[in-house]
Amino acid sequence: MKAKPEPYKIKMVEPIRLIPRSQREARLQSAHYNIFNLKSDDVFIDLLTDSGTGAMSDSQWAGIMLGDESYAGSRSFYRLEQTCREIFGHEYIVPVHQGRGAENVLFSLLIEPGQAVIGNYHFDTTQAHIELKKGLGVNLVVEEAFDTAREHDFKGNIDTGRLADMIQREGAGRIAFILLTVTCNSVGGQPVALENIRQTRRLADRYGLRLFLDAARFAENAWFIKLREEGYAAKSVTEIVREMFACADGFVMSAKKDGLVNIGGLIGIKSDRDLYNRVRARMVPLEGFPTYGGLAGRDLEALARGLREVVDESYLEARTTQVAFLAGKLAELGVPIQQPAGGHAVFVDAGKFLPQIPPHQFPGQALACQLYLEAGIRGVEVGSFMLGRDPITGQQRFSPLEFLRLAIPRRVYTDNHMAYVAEALGNIYRRRDSVRGVRIVEEEAVLRHFTARLEMV
Ligand code: F0G
Repeated sequence: MKAKPEPYKIKMVEPIRLIPRSQREARLQSAHYNIFNLKSDDVFIDLLTDSGTGAMSDSQWAGIMLGDESYAGSRSFYRLEQTCREIFGHEYIVPVHQGRGAENVLFSLLIEPGQAVIGNYHFDTTQAHIELKKGLGVNLVVEEAFDTAREHDFKGNIDTGRLADMIQREGAGRIAFILLTVTCNSVGGQPVALENIRQTRRLADRYGLRLFLDAARFAENAWFIKLREEGYAAKSVTEIVREMFACADGFVMSAKKDGLVNIGGLIGIKSDRDLYNRVRARMVPLEGFPTYGGLAGRDLEALARGLREVVDESYLEARTTQVAFLAGKLAELGVPIQQPAGGHAVFVDAGKFLPQIPPHQFPGQALACQLYLEAGIRGVEVGSFMLGRDPITGQQRFSPLEFLRLAIPRRVYTDNHMAYVAEALGNIYRRRDSVRGVRIVEEEAVLRHFTARLEMV
């Protein structure tokens, strides 16, 4: 059989509704052309994020009823700890309320003012937490990532040559640690090869540096390794995950993605007991006692079950096939996208789509507005608007790529929804010459894209 149906059926549905065009215009205007200000009731298909927006399974919902709500030593925590040890092979597991909670706790212990955190490409909250600790985030993803038309199996790889140069030039003392984001969200949900993780590990060892994974989408990354990297076709995703994590000293994870839950996160530490003790101590004032970490016992239970479900290969195949389905439809219509399709999203190259709009008028944001007006679909800009200003000079930073990200929630939408999204973008593509840019009217200093007000140029 060529057709590969999803390995689940739908037990519960949530109605969605498309409000008329005139209302979409009014809503976007009162949202100040910032799609974060839209009410979800005014959105028809929501591709703002794949974070916390997935559908839980019947088993996860059943687990919710079994959650142990004890403040300390919750049974649900021990089940989660056991699951994580089995899947990741790390000894110490600490739950947190979400990924940025993990960043806050760990980074506050490991970054000295002025130190760099080198990675493939830090996510925006990661970059913000590095900067809040007076550190410097450095992105050394491979050059291929910036050529959206170019096919490359592992556009999330870090450039190990530049990494070695930078460590030698700066000296290991000026570097807090290395952080590899798997998959690499900011360049299109692109995977990192195991060989690349291994090479990074060797460099870390040579210079006495720690290597962490930002593992929000670890299972999607492992799936791509199985499909694309030589020598892994016969290995199971579970084995590949083990190999990936064996290279790292620890990890931070937003469990809202591949944890298949609506809230939650993790810190993992492979074996460093001293670091674990420091994390535990820091947990109490920031996230909560280390056996609940800002979550309810039921959340821990749902997460333990989600982590087992996400490494199921038939699930991962259906998941990535849907993302590739949307990418394929868009490519047929001529819409420029990051090739190949990522694990969690299709990234439209808004810079190429709207060449008449200069970077300071944010083509990705302009396209996000158009997509909402056209069809009630919400995507998100990943480009210079999100990147924001240099924390020292206050100057607008420019992203090498201006994307509109269409992030697909897990187990939520059907391929029909995706066909509708593709058709809408195709319509805009045909009238792309008439699309105008946007400009910022009001903004905050850190993570401005969540709250800024904009207007159409
Ligand atoms: N790291 C990566 C790679 C992420 O994609 C995210 C969140 C985080 C860390 C922070 O985790 O949201 O649980 O605090 N990404 C979401 C997104 C918000 O839309 O890509 P969080």
